[in-house]
Amino acid sequence: MPSLFGRPHNNLRISVTDRCNIRCVYCMPEQVAFLPRAQLLNFEEIERFVRVSAPMGIDKIRLTGGEPLVRRDLPILIAKLAAIPGIRDIGLTTNGLLLASAARRLRDAGLERINVSLDTLDPERFETLTRRTGVEQVIEGILAAKEAGFNPVKVNAVAIRGTTEEDVVPLALFCRRHGLELRFIEYMPLDAGHQWERAKVLFAAEILEILAREIGPLSPRPDQDPQAPALDYPYDDGGGTVGFIASVSRPFCMSCNRLRLTADGKLRNCLFALEETDVRALIRGGASDEAIARAIRESVASKWEGHEINTARFIQPERLMHSIGG
Ligand code: 5AD
Ligand code: SF4
Repeated sequence: MPSLFGRPHNNLRISVTDRCNIRCVYCMPEQVAFLPRAQLLNFEEIERFVRVSAPMGIDKIRLTGGEPLVRRDLPILIAKLAAIPGIRDIGLTTNGLLLASAARRLRDAGLERINVSLDTLDPERFETLTRRTGVEQVIEGILAAKEAGFNPVKVNAVAIRGTTEEDVVPLALFCRRHGLELRFIEYMPLDAGHQWERAKVLFAAEILEILAREIGPLSPRPDQDPQAPALDYPYDDGGGTVGFIASVSRPFCMSCNRLRLTADGKLRNCLFALEETDVRALIRGGASDEAIARAIRESVASKWEGHEINTARFIQPERLMHSIGG
C-alpha cells in the first residue's frame, strides 16, 4: 500500500449499514432518511473490495454502522472476510442493544474484537443522549460479549462538556469491576445539528484529572504504540486501563493508517474528508481488480496531512457520523 507522509495504510473500516436502532444526538438527527437497500454494497461486493485491498497491505478490518448488528446475517460476512488471506484481525463497533443474543455467533464466525458504545449508565441520561431507551440491554450485551470470550471488551464513551462529566466516574467504576477497557472519545464535529463547538469538547486531560482524583492515579503506558489513536493510561493499582481518543486536543492524523468504506460503497481517506471515491460504481460497472486497486492507491495518495478541526478553515463534511461509521 502506498503511504503518504510515511503512513502505511493497513486498517480498513467498513460501514455495513447507515441504519441505527437509536438516535445519539452527536451522530444523527431525530428524523433521518436511510439509504435504500439497493444502494448498499452486498456481502459479495464487500468481499471483493477486501480481496483487492488485502494484497495491498490491508490486514485489519473493523465493521461499523450505523449499527452493524441491524444488518441481517452479519456473522456470514465476518466468516467470508476472516477467510481472506492476509486479513488477520476483524473488529466490530456496536451500540450493544442487539449484542446479548449475537455475541456467541459473532465469536464463532471469527470476530476478534468488540467495542461497545456506552456514554452513561443512567437510564434517564441514556434517553437524553440516544433519544431511546435500553441501557440495561446494552449492559447485558457487554456482559454477554465477555461471557462469549471477547477479551478485552472495550467500552467507548463520547466526552461532551456540560453533559457527560457526571458519567466519568460511574463508567470507570463499572469497567473496573467487570474488567472492561474504557475509552473516552473527544466529541467531534460530525453531528447533524451542527451543534459542535470546541467549547463543548470535554478534553482527555480533564477526564484524567477527574479519574485520578476520584478513583486513583493513572500513568501513561510506557510501551504505547505511536500508531494507535488511543492513548492508554493503566491505573497504578493494576485495576485496568483507560484509553483516550483525543482527536481534538491531540490529533493523531500524522500516524493515521485508516481508510473507510461507507455502506453505499464510497471510499473515504479521512473521517473529515470532503471527497470520496465511488467504489460501488467501479464494482457494479465491471471494473478489473487492477482498476479498483488503482482507485485505492489514488485515494491514499490524495489524503491530506491532517484534519483542521482546530482552525477557522474547518468545513464539516456533509456525511454525518452514522453514514461514515466512526
Ligand atoms: N464525536 C465523537 N464520537 C462519536 N461517535 C459518534 N458520533 C461521534 C461524535 N460526533 C462515536 C460513537 C461510537 C463510534 C463509532 O463513534 O459513540 O463509539
Ligand atoms: Fe447509532 Fe452509533 Fe450513531 Fe449512536 S453513535 S446513533 S449508536 S450509529
